[in-house]
This record gives sequence, C-alpha cells and structure tokens, in this order.
Amino acid sequence: MVEVTYRDLGDADAGVARRAAASSSTTVLVSRRESFNAAHQLHDPSLSDEDNRRLFGKCANLHGHNYVLEVVVAGDIDPKTGYVLDLKRLSDVICGLIVEEVDHRNLNTDVGWLEGIIQTAENLALAFWERVRPELPEGSLQSLKLWETDKNWAEIRDQV
Ligand code: NI
Repeated sequence: MVEVTYRDLGDADAGVARRAAASSSTTVLVSRRESFNAAHQLHDPSLSDEDNRRLFGKCANLHGHNYVLEVVVAGDIDPKTGYVLDLKRLSDVICGLIVEEVDHRNLNTDVGWLEGIIQTAENLALAFWERVRPELPEGSLQSLKLWETDKNWAEIRDQV
C-alpha cells in the first residue's frame, strides 16, 4: 500500500519553483488581442479592372471586415513586476500604431503607410509587424496574427 501525504509549498519550495520558471530553458509568451473594422478591396493597379476581377473575384469589390489582431511577445519574467511585458503597454503600442490609424478607414485610400500593397491579410499582417516591431523590446516580438474573418487568418513569425 502506498501512502500519499500532502503538504503546502513552503517558502523554500516556492523559491525553487520561481527559479525553475525563470530558467533559460523556459519560454514565457504573453499576448494582446485588439480589433478594428475597415474596408478594403484586393486590387493590383498594374492590372485592368477585368483582370483584377478575374484574379480576386468578389474581393476586388470594396467590402469590409471585422479584423482581429493578436500580437505575441516573449521574454523573461521581470522579478519586480512579474510581467514579461505590461500588456497595457502592448495594447498602447498596437492601438497607437495600428488600430487608431486603420479603424473605420478604407485601407486602400486612407492609410498612407499601406499604400502600394495588395491588401491581403498576409500583406497587412506584414505591414503591421514592421510597424510594431521597433517599438517593442528588442527580439521580443514572436508573432503577429491577423484574422480577416473567423475562418481566415495570416500570421507573421520571427525567424527561429
Ligand atoms: Ni476582404
């Protein structure tokens, strides 16, 4: 017969647990999700309207999406705060650099830094990635995922 006994984690045990969680073999990820509504059309200006319709179908027409954007960062847990990154700060970066610029806009005509790209979820996600990365602690940005619908998303990841 095996006897099992239970005891609370003592301070020494909790310290061991904290150190284990902070070891270099552990990756801690945190994430923030924001959303915005915007209009776009898939359009290559070098093609005729007919060719655009052939290539992009209905997406060549101006239409809207309820976009959802998720940004994942990684890092060590700061022992002072317990955070990898204050998610309020991450939210401020995402909202200030992206959401406030694109929400309730026509992405093809109203946002200067999106001009000249075919506005697929892939290209938009890449443009968002390049915009937020310099504003986050170096090397912390892991992935940025953009849902165009609840069925379609595109994701950009850091090279490993
Ligand atoms: Ni679309």
